[in-house]
Amino acid sequence: MKNKILIIDDDADFVEAISLLLEANGYKTLQAYNGKEGFAQAKEQVPDLIMLDMKMAYQTEGAETAKAMSKDAEIKDIPVILATGIGKELTKKLKEILRNEAMSVKTVIEKPIEAKELLKIIKNYIGESGGKEHRELIKQITSFANKWKGKKGNLVMILHEIQNYYGYVPRGISFQLSRLLGIPLARIYEVITFYNFFKLSPPGKHVISVCMGTACYLKGAAELVDKIKSLLKIEEGQTTEDGLFHLQVVRCLGCCGLAPVVMVDQKIYSKVVPDSIEGIVSRYRQDKS
Ligand code: FES
Repeated sequence: MKNKILIIDDDADFVEAISLLLEANGYKTLQAYNGKEGFAQAKEQVPDLIMLDMKMAYQTEGAETAKAMSKDAEIKDIPVILATGIGKELTKKLKEILRNEAMSVKTVIEKPIEAKELLKIIKNYIGESGGKEHRELIKQITSFANKWKGKKGNLVMILHEIQNYYGYVPRGISFQLSRLLGIPLARIYEVITFYNFFKLSPPGKHVISVCMGTACYLKGAAELVDKIKSLLKIEEGQTTEDGLFHLQVVRCLGCCGLAPVVMVDQKIYSKVVPDSIEGIVSRYRQDKS
């Protein structure tokens, strides 16, 4: 199981960059953009480590959040890394103060910090993450990337491999791939978003595919899509919050005589009308338990 790291920082770009780095190294990340939100997430998700910015809306927001965490029985043992931009001398003093206050803050780091250094510090508190499985995958991607390096169409092939493994293309892996192949991350995302096939988030437990081929379209498939969207409160290509359903639109499923067709996982539903959608979905909802 991956170690979870909660990043609390009001600088969205910093949060994004650190999340990418940590995910590329096998950690799962959670994000919050102020102390209050961070505290709530820490209680709800109980991460393995917290990276907390010192100065957010005000100078000491980070320290106060850390203090509140240290007093909370449920989360007081989670190690906190406090990040500051106050200079080496003050950082040193702050370290002493925090040590004396016996807070859950394990160390104070000075921003910006080298990726290697940060990973070393994190490893020190919670160990490597992603485990053997992740390391094996990285090995696999590396050898695949080396094999296809410089060849035409290599990126699509590698992305297929990744999606087959994860069920989607995790952004941390894209980041890793960008470094391995020496191509910009933006290019990788360009390819992922160009092809319908690639997914950027984990697919739901049940994949609902609505056929939008000509026959199905003419027989009202678009209304079925609208009905599913409003029922599940998701858009095409999205997964419900509980992870139960993923909605996708596909081309001809090869059974036009049954149009309009909806497929849930591998099961085909024929001549579907909007009113029957709720009944179809409810069969799979029971799986939730
Ligand atoms: S168009 Fe929908 S099955 Fe052929």
